[in-house]
Amino acid sequence: MSGFDSERFKANERAGFNRIAGRYLAGAAARQALQQALVELAAPAPGERILDLASGPCLLAADAAARIGDGGLVVASDIAEAMLACGRDALAHEAPAPMVYCAADAETLPFADDCFDLVTIGLGLFILPDPSAALAEVRRVLVADGRVALSVWGPADTVPLISHAQACIARLLPPPRVPRPSVFRFGEAPVLARLLGDAGFGTTDITDYRLDCRFADAGDYWQAFLDLAGGAAEAIARLPEAVGRELADEVARDLQPCRDGDGYATSNRVLLALAHK
Ligand SMILES: C[S@@+](CC[C@H](N)C(=O)[O-])C[C@H]1O[C@@H](n2cnc3c(N)ncnc32)[C@H](O)[C@@H]1O
Repeated sequence: MSGFDSERFKANERAGFNRIAGRYLAGAAARQALQQALVELAAPAPGERILDLASGPCLLAADAAARIGDGGLVVASDIAEAMLACGRDALAHEAPAPMVYCAADAETLPFADDCFDLVTIGLGLFILPDPSAALAEVRRVLVADGRVALSVWGPADTVPLISHAQACIARLLPPPRVPRPSVFRFGEAPVLARLLGDAGFGTTDITDYRLDCRFADAGDYWQAFLDLAGGAAEAIARLPEAVGRELADEVARDLQPCRDGDGYATSNRVLLALAHK
């Protein structure tokens, strides 16, 4: 991507996810079934050591932790420290199997070689400017027969939860000063399989998942988008109030095809992948 500054991009993502951390946690309940489907696919076993990358508020990490017993370990890692702090506070009373929190960039992991049995990445790989570098790091920290389990959005036209909002932003606002890689770029199974294969992973199992989300009104949809997309939320928070209102109105118009009874419904495609080192 010409003019792309990956450090600036990461700083923007980090600021955005730090900004929305509390709201992201509140909205994550709507994606709990997706998170559980990924944990089922990953099948954490008692005693395993697990790294959850781009962990956000650590819900996937906690789900995995509940399955591995006291002899295991889960490291929840994310570039946005407020996301981890939110998760840690929310989980404080639950005390799942040993869980530690580590703020880090997924592209340069501060862990030794061969120290995890499983790495999970829920809705995170496409946010990274250099996913191949991150997957090389994942492979490095995995033991010889280790595995990675991850989820990514499908192609843009199958993910109205995000694409409607993005289309309105693209129509109304000038192109972002920090260009963004598309969050849909691994949405076709062969593309994702190639990325994992090129990173040195063997057998890859990719399955489709449907994430259905309902919204009481268009404002509810727009807020759900802002509570999910840290980088976009960061850019939009800096706009004059009037432009923010114009955007919300445009979103309400664009969302009409999703009208369903007295609210709005979106059905969104997600790919779940399991690959072995
Ligand atoms: C869409 S959220 C997914 C959170 C969680 N895994 C889930 O399934 O709800 C993406 C996460 O990636 C994190 N992230 C963005 N860039 C990152 C990077 N370079 N390294 C590590 N984490 C990053 C963000 O801070 C955010 O918490």
